Amino acid sequence: MKQNPSFFSLALSIVLSASFLGGCSSKEAPLKQEGKILLVSDLHYYSDSLTDYGSKFQEIVRNADGKDPFHQKALLRALKGQIEKEKYDAVVFNGDIAFNGEEASLNDLTGYFDSVEESGTEVYVLPGNHDVGFYQGFSSFGDKTEDVKTYTPSDFRKSLGKYGYDSAPLKDEDSFSYLVPLYQGLYGLFLDANSSTENAYEESTAEFAKEALEYVKEKGGKAISFTHQPLLSHLKSERLDSRSVRSDEMLSLFKEYGVKVNFAGHLHALNRKESGGVSEIVNPCLCLLNNQYGVISYTEGKDLSYGCFSLDITDYVSSLEGYSSFQEYSEARYKRIQKEKILEAKDSFATETDEEELSLLGDYFAKINTDFFEGNLVKVDSEDPGFLAWEGQIDSFWRDYVGKILMDLRLETDYHHFSKSL
Ligand SMILES: [Fe+2]
Repeated sequence: MKQNPSFFSLALSIVLSASFLGGCSSKEAPLKQEGKILLVSDLHYYSDSLTDYGSKFQEIVRNADGKDPFHQKALLRALKGQIEKEKYDAVVFNGDIAFNGEEASLNDLTGYFDSVEESGTEVYVLPGNHDVGFYQGFSSFGDKTEDVKTYTPSDFRKSLGKYGYDSAPLKDEDSFSYLVPLYQGLYGLFLDANSSTENAYEESTAEFAKEALEYVKEKGGKAISFTHQPLLSHLKSERLDSRSVRSDEMLSLFKEYGVKVNFAGHLHALNRKESGGVSEIVNPCLCLLNNQYGVISYTEGKDLSYGCFSLDITDYVSSLEGYSSFQEYSEARYKRIQKEKILEAKDSFATETDEEELSLLGDYFAKINTDFFEGNLVKVDSEDPGFLAWEGQIDSFWRDYVGKILMDLRLETDYHHFSKSL
C-alpha cells in the first residue's frame, strides 16, 4: 500500500511533544461599571421563507460543514431565553449572521434583534464575509434552487446600522467599523473587513482604527475589539486560516495603544492565540454541534474574562428523534454526516479497503472533526485503530484533510475559559 507519512508524522510529533510539555452602552442609560456581554459568532441563519426543506435543500445542507438549519427557530428562541434569564448588557453578533446574506434572512433577523433590544439588551453587529454579497443567496424548493436578492454592504448598513454603527460616537464612513462605549472606561472597537473587498481592511479603516484608539486614549479608557475574521493565524495546517489584509497593521495599532484582546469568529471552531501582548479568541459557531457561544465579563477597572458555553435548546425542540437531549441528537447527526462523506468517497481509498475498514475510517473522521469543531482538549492515541487505518491509506484529498485536522486538534490548552487584566 502506497504511503505518504508526512502529515501523520507531523501530527504525531505534535502529539508527543505536547504530552511532554505537559453597561450596557444603552443609547440613553448611563454606563455601568461592570457586567457581561454575550458573544455570538457565525449564526448563518437561513430564512424558512426561502425553502420547503425539500431534496435540494437537504443536499445543500449535507455539503454545508454540518451546520444545522433545521432548528434555527428553536436556537433563536433559546438564545433569547438565555439573554432574558442572564440579563446580559449587550449581545454582539460578530459576523456571518446570515447563511449567504439573503435579504429574507437578514430581514427576519432585524425583527429578532429588535425583540432582543426590547427586552433591554443592546445588540451590536458586524458584517461577515457571508453577509454582504460575496456569496450568492438562493431559495430552495423541491429539487431546484433559484438566486435571490442578497444584501450589499450598503443594504447591510441601511438595515442593520441601528445595531451599533448608527449611534456610535465614532464610525468609519467607508465601512461598518465603529467605536462604542461598553462600560465606564471600556470601549468596544468593531472592525469590518468585508464591506469593500472580502477579508480586507481598507486603508481608511486602519486610519479609522487609529483615530478611534487615539480617542480612547484621550478619554483615559481601554478598548477591546471585535472582528469577523481573525487577525492572527490560528491553525498549524493553515487549512482554514484566512487572515484579513492589513491584519498586521491592526495588530501594530493594538500593541501601540494597548488593546489586549480581540474577539473573532469565522473559523467555526474555538481557538486562542497570543501575539505581542494581544490575545485573540476565536469564538465558535453557534449553529454547529453543541451550539457554543461566548460570555465576556468585565470587572470594574481592568479585568476581562471569557467563557465558552453550550446553549441547551432541548426544551425548545419539538422532536429529538429518540435522543435524550439536543446535544446528543446534534452530535449524532453531525457524526453521521461526516461519516457519510467518507463512505461516499469509497473510490478515493486503496482498492483493498473493505466495508469494515471504510466504516472505521468514517468513524475516526467523524470523531476528530467533532473534537476539532467543539474545541475539545484531546489526547490523540497513535495506536487507535482509526488512526492506524488512516495512516496506512493511500494519498487522497481525505487522507490529507485528516492529517491536517490532527495537526490542529487542541492537545495542550483548554480554550473554554480565559481571563486577562486590561
Ligand atoms: Fe466567515
